[in-house]
Amino acid sequence: MAIIGTDLGLAAEFLAAGELVGMPTETVYGLAGNALDPDAVTKIFKTKNRPSFDPLIVHTSDISKVTDFVEEFPASLRLLAERFWPGPLTLLLPKKKNVPDLVTSGLDTVAVRVPRHELTLRLLRQLPFPLAAPSANPFGYISPTKAVHVNDQLGDKIPYILDGGACEVGLESTIVGMLDGEVTVFRLGGLEVKKIESIVGKVKVMAHSSSNPQSPGMLKSHYAPTKPFLIGNLSSMIKKYQEKEVPFAVLAFRAFFDTVEEGKQVQLSLDGSLEEAAKNLFAAMRTLDSLNVSVILSEYLPDEGLGKAINDRLKRAAAESMDSDEDIRIQTF
Ligand code: TXA
Ligand code: MG
Repeated sequence: MAIIGTDLGLAAEFLAAGELVGMPTETVYGLAGNALDPDAVTKIFKTKNRPSFDPLIVHTSDISKVTDFVEEFPASLRLLAERFWPGPLTLLLPKKKNVPDLVTSGLDTVAVRVPRHELTLRLLRQLPFPLAAPSANPFGYISPTKAVHVNDQLGDKIPYILDGGACEVGLESTIVGMLDGEVTVFRLGGLEVKKIESIVGKVKVMAHSSSNPQSPGMLKSHYAPTKPFLIGNLSSMIKKYQEKEVPFAVLAFRAFFDTVEEGKQVQLSLDGSLEEAAKNLFAAMRTLDSLNVSVILSEYLPDEGLGKAINDRLKRAAAESMDSDEDIRIQTF
C-alpha cells in the first residue's frame, strides 16, 4: 500500500524521480506525474488502465506559468482564468511542443487548470515542471474524494498519496474551450455554467453528447459503480424492489425512507443544498457500492446550478444499467 501523508518534500522527490503521487484538489483526487516526462505520463495511463485516446489535464500553480507550455491564451478564456483560478475550471489551450503528444492524445490543445488546494499549490510551486493528473480512479469508476479512496484502488501501484482531507467541491472541474470561435463547455463540473456566463456571456454547452471524441469525459457510461445503478422515482422503485424481494440500497437527495433500513440509504443533503450534495456524491456512491445489495436506486436532483453537473454524473453512472433494464421508467430532465 502507498504511504499516506502530508510530506511535500517526499512527494516532490517521488515526482522528480518520475514516480506517481496521489494529489488532493478541491474537485477530486488526481493521479499526478511530471507532465513533461513521457515515461511518467505513460505510467499514468497504465496505472489507471486508461485508453490512450483520453487526454490528461495539466496542473500548474499560477496563470503566469501557463505560457511555459501553451502557445496563446484566447482573450475570453484568459478572462475566465483570471476570475476563477485557482478553482474548478479547466481550459483547453493551444499546446507548445514541450507537452508530449501522449498528454493530449495527439490533440493540438492541452487541458490546463490551477487547482484550489493549498497543499497541492505549495507542491506545484516547488516543482520545476507542471503535473499531469487524471482523477485517481481506475478508468470508468467513481472519482476519489478522499485519500483512502485512492489507496483502496491504486495504493499498491503508487508510492505516495498526499492527504489533503475530503475534497471541498466533490465534482470534477468544468472543461471549457473555444469551438468555431465560441466559448464552449465540454464537461459540466464544479464551476456552474451561469458563473462562466456572468464573465463571457452566453456559452454553448456540448457536455450532454456522448459521441463527440473531443472530450472523452463525455463518454456516456462513466463515473460508474460496479453495481447496477438506476434512476427514477424513488418511492415507486423502492416499492417495486421490495415486492420483488431484491436487496437494494438508496441514494436520495434529501428524503429519508422509513421503509428502508438506515444503513441502506444515504441522503446527499438533508438541507437540500446542491453544494453539499456535490461534495457527498462520490463518497456516497462508493459506500453504497460496497454494501451487500444487488442494485442501487437513485433519483435526479433539481436541474439547476450544480444540480446539472450532479445529474450528468448520475446519468453516466446509470448509463449501462438503464440500457439493460427497460423495466424502469426513466424520469427525464
Ligand atoms: O477536476 C478535475 O478536472 C480532476 C482533477 C484531478 O483536476 N481531473 C480530472 O481528470 O477529472 P480526468 O482525466 O478524469 O478528466 C479529464 C477530462 C477527460 O474527459 C479528457 O477527455 C478531457 O479532460 N480532456 C483533456 N484534455 C483534453 C483536450 N485537449 N481536449 C478535450 N478534452 C480534453
Ligand atoms: Mg476521471
